[in-house]
Amino acid sequence: MTAPVVASTRSELAALLGDARRDGRRIGLVPTMGALHEGHASLMRVAREQVGPDGEVVVSVFVNPLQFGAGEDLDRYPRTLAADVDLAAREGVDIVFAPSVEEVYPGGGPQVTLDPGPLGTILEGRTRPGHFAGMLIVVAKLFGLVRPDVAVFGQKDYQQLALIRRMAEDLCLGIEVVGAPTQREQDGLALSSRNRYLDPEERREAVHLSRALFAARADAAYGAQAALDAARAELRRAASVDVDYLVVTAADLGELPEPVPAGTEARILVAARVGSTRLIDNMSLTIGSPTNPGTTS
Ligand code: PAF
Repeated sequence: MTAPVVASTRSELAALLGDARRDGRRIGLVPTMGALHEGHASLMRVAREQVGPDGEVVVSVFVNPLQFGAGEDLDRYPRTLAADVDLAAREGVDIVFAPSVEEVYPGGGPQVTLDPGPLGTILEGRTRPGHFAGMLIVVAKLFGLVRPDVAVFGQKDYQQLALIRRMAEDLCLGIEVVGAPTQREQDGLALSSRNRYLDPEERREAVHLSRALFAARADAAYGAQAALDAARAELRRAASVDVDYLVVTAADLGELPEPVPAGTEARILVAARVGSTRLIDNMSLTIGSPTNPGTTS
């Protein structure tokens, strides 16, 4: 197990990536805010698969102030760089880029900003104004600093992934954006850096989020409404889960057609507060099924 090289400045990063670029080796980027867990480890493995054994895998660790709103958890967000580097070493990562706020935003936030567009106004965008604009700025900056061939993001942040894909496409960035499946605890809870805020009772309650999504998936054969009803019924069992949204959308987060043709690929997304911790999760659904032809929402 070779430890990754840790770069904290743009020039260190550029020097480290120089050889890979000169040799035409592929570069894969896994942007993170640290507090790494097995979900991030799976992203690193996907990045390695994408760039091959000779490629360069870069993991960035940066808690981006621009994507936190007032009253959110910027100050208490876990910062665990030593443990993060250990996990990256275990996964054969080549470079950990862990810059300071000043290194990323010299002289403060950028004057030229990014507008996430309509996709940024729904779901997380509605509850967390400014979050996606701040997220896209840092991702664009990391893309510019690392200039990866491929960048890997988790499907757990499904709307984020959709927006980053859209940015890469709309702005012709020439970077392949890969979405990796959500990793779950044995009981189904989606892995998240924020799970560590949960006390034991909240941890027990939090599992209802994923149970609701699995219940929806099981009932999706009977239509989108049935899927939603199954999820709602499950969430009602969780006294201290305060639901922000629970929706079934098209796979691209747009509206489902009405009626929904059997076999339509859809997405169910949930956000909820468990105690003071806000958690999100999502899952793919197939609405209707060959045994329920013509089933609609
Ligand atoms: O998903 C995250 O951890 C962050 O939003 C990201 C993509 C690293 C940008 O800060």
